Amino acid sequence: MSFPKNAWYAAAWGADISRELFARTIINEPLVFYRKESGDVVALSDMCPHRFAPLNKGKLVGDSIECGYHGLHFDGSGGCVFNPHGDGSIPKTAKVRSFPIVEQDTLVWIWMGEAAAADPVKIPDFPWLNDKETFVFTPASTFSMKLDYRLIVDNLLDLSHAAYLHAATLGAAPGTKDITDVRQEGTRIYSDRLIPNSPPAFVFTATGAANPDDIVDYWANMRVDLPCAFYMDAGVTLSGRDKSEGNVLSSVQILTPETEDSSFYLWSAFRNYRKDDEVLTQVIADTIKAAFSLEDEPMMHEVQVRMAGRDFWKMKPILLSGDGAAVLARRITDKMIAEDLAISEASESDKRIPLKEVGQGV
Ligand code: FES
Ligand SMILES: [Fe+2]
Repeated sequence: MSFPKNAWYAAAWGADISRELFARTIINEPLVFYRKESGDVVALSDMCPHRFAPLNKGKLVGDSIECGYHGLHFDGSGGCVFNPHGDGSIPKTAKVRSFPIVEQDTLVWIWMGEAAAADPVKIPDFPWLNDKETFVFTPASTFSMKLDYRLIVDNLLDLSHAAYLHAATLGAAPGTKDITDVRQEGTRIYSDRLIPNSPPAFVFTATGAANPDDIVDYWANMRVDLPCAFYMDAGVTLSGRDKSEGNVLSSVQILTPETEDSSFYLWSAFRNYRKDDEVLTQVIADTIKAAFSLEDEPMMHEVQVRMAGRDFWKMKPILLSGDGAAVLARRITDKMIAEDLAISEASESDKRIPLKEVGQGV
């Protein structure tokens, strides 16, 4: 298992879920989503308990799904509420699992562990996504990537790759000196990176945040809520100026594992300058998209092929000065997965029937 179960994952952007049935697999669990007439989002296991048809191939009838195969109806709690066959009685086991959902900061969050343990306070906060006064946003987008999400976490926590992998699109000159600071608060890691008194990285000139001839200070501060929800605070000022004067080009980059080797990548970039310039919004979206899909994704895919499913630590990767945050993230995620296993083993042993109850040892 490469991901924790007891975690909140961003299932989708709120705008992606409507009165149409929406199918998405998260940590190997096929799910179907929809909005009730009230607007509340429902997430159910996407398999009918009768002959195992995908419920997303059915249709909504009021607030229930009618299975597209033989017509059972399941409501938002997963209970069967209508049986068109025989005397219409509802078989006791006719139930699908429903998942806790919270809609927050324009995102739909799902808890994939035991429902009783779902604590909305633990959902990572992204208040910037609600701040339409300060920022203008690229469209809320989702990439589907054939990648283990942990490779993308490695990538985002070591931005020194920008000078090499994104040399022609986003990066600074190779060898640019930065000041980094890594710190941990529970399952949250901050990895702050400041490049003082330098020519701007391409990303800032390509997106109109700085002029190529400027000498600037720029920053790229990552916050990750493990296992995989990132906020990047990035921006640029003329050298020596206060950060509050800066042109901000920040982003949310939230990963959701689909399977061990595929992931969804929910992202939106936002800026506080030239806010009426719609052409610039498109340029920013296109620049980021090109860097992800033409540079990051192919490289990470090659890495995944070479790793061939082997354990990261057993491959004994060499560690460089910029690896602190990514290594810490791997260790904390491993611990979350180990704690999950402990929880599920404990609950399995609770379910075991004591010997005397099955007539032994009497
Ligand atoms: S498979 Fe759903 S009602 Fe038969
Ligand atoms: Fe990158």
